[in-house]
Amino acid sequence: IQLHLQDKDGTLHTVQARVGRSLMHAAVDSGLDGMAADCGGSLSCATCHVIVAPAWAEQLPEPAADELAMLEMTAAPLEPGSRLSCQIRLSTALDGLQARMPATQY
Ligand code: FES
Repeated sequence: IQLHLQDKDGTLHTVQARVGRSLMHAAVDSGLDGMAADCGGSLSCATCHVIVAPAWAEQLPEPAADELAMLEMTAAPLEPGSRLSCQIRLSTALDGLQARMPATQY
Protein backbone atom coordinates (compact mmCIF):
# COMPACT_ATOMS: atom_id res chain seq x y z
CA ILE A 1 0.00 0.00 0.00
CA GLN A 2 1.01 3.62 -0.31
CA LEU A 3 1.39 6.00 2.58
CA HIS A 4 1.78 9.77 2.48
CA LEU A 5 4.02 10.75 5.35
CA GLN A 6 5.25 14.21 6.21
CA ASP A 7 8.60 14.34 7.94
CA LYS A 8 9.35 16.64 10.85
CA ASP A 9 10.47 19.40 8.50
CA GLY A 10 7.22 19.29 6.57
CA THR A 11 8.48 17.45 3.49
CA LEU A 12 5.92 15.03 2.10
CA HIS A 13 7.09 11.51 1.25
CA THR A 14 5.08 8.86 -0.55
CA VAL A 15 6.30 5.49 0.67
CA GLN A 16 5.41 1.90 -0.14
CA ALA A 17 4.57 -0.34 2.77
CA ARG A 18 3.51 -3.93 3.24
CA VAL A 19 0.19 -4.93 4.76
CA GLY A 20 0.70 -6.39 8.22
CA ARG A 21 3.64 -4.15 9.00
CA SER A 22 3.29 -1.39 11.55
CA LEU A 23 3.14 2.23 10.50
CA MET A 24 6.23 2.76 12.65
CA HIS A 25 8.23 0.16 10.70
CA ALA A 26 7.07 1.63 7.40
CA ALA A 27 8.38 5.03 8.46
CA VAL A 28 11.67 3.59 9.75
CA ASP A 29 12.14 1.55 6.56
CA SER A 30 11.80 4.68 4.48
CA GLY A 31 14.28 6.59 6.65
CA LEU A 32 11.77 9.23 7.50
CA ASP A 33 13.21 12.16 9.43
CA GLY A 34 11.29 12.51 12.66
CA MET A 35 10.65 8.85 13.42
CA ALA A 36 12.75 7.54 16.32
CA ALA A 37 11.01 4.42 17.64
CA ASP A 38 13.72 3.73 20.19
CA CYS A 39 12.03 0.71 21.75
CA GLY A 40 11.52 -1.03 18.42
CA GLY A 41 7.77 -1.28 18.81
CA SER A 42 7.35 -2.66 22.29
CA LEU A 43 5.26 0.29 23.45
CA SER A 44 7.73 1.57 25.98
CA CYS A 45 9.34 4.67 24.45
CA ALA A 46 6.68 7.01 22.98
CA THR A 47 9.18 8.16 20.33
CA CYS A 48 7.09 6.81 17.45
CA HIS A 49 4.48 9.55 17.86
CA VAL A 50 2.64 10.48 14.66
CA ILE A 51 -0.32 12.71 13.96
CA VAL A 52 -2.73 10.92 11.67
CA ALA A 53 -4.83 13.08 9.34
CA PRO A 54 -8.44 13.37 10.58
CA ALA A 55 -10.07 11.40 7.76
CA TRP A 56 -7.71 8.50 8.44
CA ALA A 57 -7.59 8.77 12.21
CA GLU A 58 -11.27 7.97 12.42
CA GLN A 59 -10.73 4.74 10.48
CA LEU A 60 -8.22 3.40 12.98
CA PRO A 61 -9.21 1.23 15.91
CA GLU A 62 -9.35 3.18 19.15
CA PRO A 63 -6.03 3.17 21.01
CA ALA A 64 -5.79 0.47 23.66
CA ALA A 65 -5.31 1.46 27.29
CA ASP A 66 -1.57 0.82 27.19
CA GLU A 67 -1.16 2.97 24.08
CA LEU A 68 -3.15 5.74 25.76
CA ALA A 69 -0.92 5.51 28.81
CA MET A 70 2.25 5.78 26.70
CA LEU A 71 0.80 8.67 24.69
CA GLU A 72 1.07 10.68 27.90
CA MET A 73 4.84 10.38 27.52
CA THR A 74 5.33 11.94 24.06
CA ALA A 75 7.74 14.86 23.81
CA ALA A 76 5.56 16.90 21.48
CA PRO A 77 2.12 17.96 22.70
CA LEU A 78 -0.71 15.64 21.73
CA GLU A 79 -3.01 16.72 18.93
CA PRO A 80 -6.22 15.26 17.58
CA GLY A 81 -5.02 12.25 15.62
CA SER A 82 -1.95 11.66 17.80
CA ARG A 83 -1.06 7.97 17.94
CA LEU A 84 1.91 5.74 18.59
CA SER A 85 2.69 4.40 15.16
CA CYS A 86 4.05 1.06 16.38
CA GLN A 87 0.48 0.23 17.41
CA ILE A 88 -1.00 0.89 13.96
CA ARG A 89 -1.13 -2.25 11.88
CA LEU A 90 -1.27 -1.55 8.15
CA SER A 91 -4.13 -3.04 6.15
CA THR A 92 -5.46 -2.56 2.63
CA ALA A 93 -8.11 -0.27 4.13
CA LEU A 94 -5.30 2.12 5.05
CA ASP A 95 -3.96 2.46 1.50
CA GLY A 96 -3.36 6.19 1.03
CA LEU A 97 -3.09 6.98 4.73
CA GLN A 98 -1.76 10.42 5.55
CA ALA A 99 0.17 11.23 8.70
CA ARG A 100 2.89 13.56 9.85
CA MET A 101 5.75 13.37 12.29
CA PRO A 102 5.74 15.76 15.26
CA ALA A 103 8.42 18.45 15.52
CA THR A 104 10.31 16.33 18.04
CA GLN A 105 10.29 12.87 19.58
CA TYR A 106 12.47 13.87 22.56
FE1 FES B 1 8.42 2.63 21.17
FE2 FES B 1 6.26 2.77 19.61
S1 FES B 1 8.28 2.32 19.04
S2 FES B 1 6.38 3.05 21.75
